[in-house]
Amino acid sequence: MTTEGTGTQSAVKDQTPAGDAPLVELRGAGKSYGNIRALHGVDLKVFPSQVTCVLGDNGAGKSTLIKIISGLHQHTEGEFLVDGAPVRFSTPREALDRGIATVYQDLAVVPLMPVWRNFFLGSEMTKGPWPLRRLDIERMKKTADEELRNMGIVLDDLEQPIGTLSGGQRQCVAIARAVYFGARVLILDEPTAALGVKQSGVVLKYIAAARDRGLGVIFITHNPHHAYMVGDHFSVLRLGTMELNASRDEVSLEELTNHMAGGTELAALKHELSQVRGVDVEELPEADALTAPVASSEGKS
Ligand SMILES: Nc1ncnc2c1ncn2[C@@H]1O[C@H](COP(=O)(O)OP(=O)(O)OP(=O)(O)O)[C@@H](O)[C@H]1O
Ligand SMILES: [Mg+2]
Repeated sequence: MTTEGTGTQSAVKDQTPAGDAPLVELRGAGKSYGNIRALHGVDLKVFPSQVTCVLGDNGAGKSTLIKIISGLHQHTEGEFLVDGAPVRFSTPREALDRGIATVYQDLAVVPLMPVWRNFFLGSEMTKGPWPLRRLDIERMKKTADEELRNMGIVLDDLEQPIGTLSGGQRQCVAIARAVYFGARVLILDEPTAALGVKQSGVVLKYIAAARDRGLGVIFITHNPHHAYMVGDHFSVLRLGTMELNASRDEVSLEELTNHMAGGTELAALKHELSQVRGVDVEELPEADALTAPVASSEGKS
């Protein structure tokens, strides 16, 4: 299977580009919530101009991993480094100050406010001297319009309430906003989970656009197809540990899908489905082929 024709993968990049140090790195990182060990021994490197995909089933530890990087939670084992230096953020604000921006699925927007107003929410432009300082509405409108266009996002009217945009469009505005406010690392938690095919494609396009602007993107998803369309590196979590850590040239879409499904589970499912009338199991991926050895889970990082 290939990704040709998607227009989202401009070039396949190596996981360790010469001269580029990782923006963010986890070394043997883990997190326990009391007695529950949600994450253990995780290694991850995020490079500029790359999309690092973190895949995994429900409860695999994806959200826990990004909560550590985005400053919501602290790791309880291993190391977390930003620009090569160990850090321990106490608040998301500290992560943001280091250029780590997170776009959550339930976006923090005010639905009834216009698009441009949401673009600047919490960081409004003002003009005039104190105490006559007031919002610089014209400049905010103009800048929001320019920034959205720069990312290739064309909206008819920035005055419309953001609540009237589709879920995909709102994700795109949030991506453009993070880029404008100087994010170096952009974390997206399942941005395509609730979207249809077409809208998912649009969001994937802006993930690629953010990557092409030099950001290190961490793309959390359940969907290996979406990951493979834009990903440079793939990390698969299973029960809190990293099961696969591979760059694009080390893993095919089929292998990635298999890692997500689990080869034996898929074979069992295929067997069960073959008992059901009307299901064409021949169309399903070959379980044997899928369980072929892939790049070791140690990976390169
Ligand atoms: N605050 C918490 N307290 C206790 N356990 C937690 C907490 N947050 C997560 N967990 C546990 O940690 C494990 C990993 O959860 P996490 O939310 O990171 O998974 P996930 O991969 O994001 O799953 P999903 O795809 O469902 O979002 C789960 O077993 C979960 O029950
Ligand atoms: Mg989650």
